[in-house]
Amino acid sequence: MDFDARRRQCAEQIQAGFDQTFAGYDQSQPVVQAMAYATNGGKRLRGFLVMEGARLAGLSDSDALPAALAIEAIHAYSLVHDDLPAMDNDDLRRGQPTVHKAWDDATAILAGDALQSVAFSLIAEMDLAAERRIDLSGSLADAAGAKGMVLGQALDIQAETAPAPLTLPEIERLQAGKTGALLEWSAMAGPMMAGADTGPLRTYGRALGVAFQIADDILDVTGDEAKAGKRLGKDDAAGKATFVSHLGLDGARERARELVAEAEAALARYGSSAHVLRDAARFVISREF
Ligand code: IPE
Ligand code: IPE
Ligand code: MG
Ligand code: MG
Ligand code: MG
Repeated sequence: MDFDARRRQCAEQIQAGFDQTFAGYDQSQPVVQAMAYATNGGKRLRGFLVMEGARLAGLSDSDALPAALAIEAIHAYSLVHDDLPAMDNDDLRRGQPTVHKAWDDATAILAGDALQSVAFSLIAEMDLAAERRIDLSGSLADAAGAKGMVLGQALDIQAETAPAPLTLPEIERLQAGKTGALLEWSAMAGPMMAGADTGPLRTYGRALGVAFQIADDILDVTGDEAKAGKRLGKDDAAGKATFVSHLGLDGARERARELVAEAEAALARYGSSAHVLRDAARFVISREF
């Protein structure tokens, strides 16, 4: 199976998993409707990484599904809050109005908050040894919070008003948090669930994460809004420091290629069974959406 077929296969299972999860909530509530809306669509790259990493570690898709749902719920929450007027003030996400446009700011804030709770509740209920559930939830908390994604988002917002443009190491730190932390967790969740060595997939996920955000920044400059399903050209308008603002488009592309080579090298131990993850790394920097 190639990367895109496998990604679609994971995406279908993830959508069915969310449908089942939200069936347990009061669906007449706007906040619940907003949660279901926010978790709909997208590439499901993080969920795919969880499920494919789990497969490499000898686990089945159904074993891995709750962890895939958990990371997609955290990711969806991060997008809902990222789009709010107080942050990036965006009106389009995944080709649809953003949650605060379709409902209102308060509903978007609360839906994001509750999606974060959904993630940890899914992990708590996994059919897995308690120790592994503790590892998964503790590492997800670090990746999502002020050591990871939230830190990166905070640095990103600060950079808009910083007196001087960020240096390259500062941009790397920002990106590693904002996007890298959740992608790194996604890649290593499979071996973590299986009690296997997380080292190679952690290295893979770390490199892939930064490459992914560089590609996002490149798309913000060169992409097509209809394909991306979100507004573009916003980073420059907001005065945001990115790899592109720092290295230019060619320099950013070169850095992304180096990172993909690093990600691929980290998979050596898995031989040909890691070909889908290798393809995923290449997709990340060639994607148009
Ligand atoms: C968008 O992430 C936000 C960033 C971290 C750059 P994705 O590009 O993975 O968004 P979806 O899930 O496919 O919509
Ligand atoms: C968003 O980064 C990262 C998170 C939501 C954690 P961006 O602000 O660059 O993402 P887009 O471009 O709006 O998707
Ligand atoms: Mg942002
Ligand atoms: Mg944004
Ligand atoms: Mg962006």
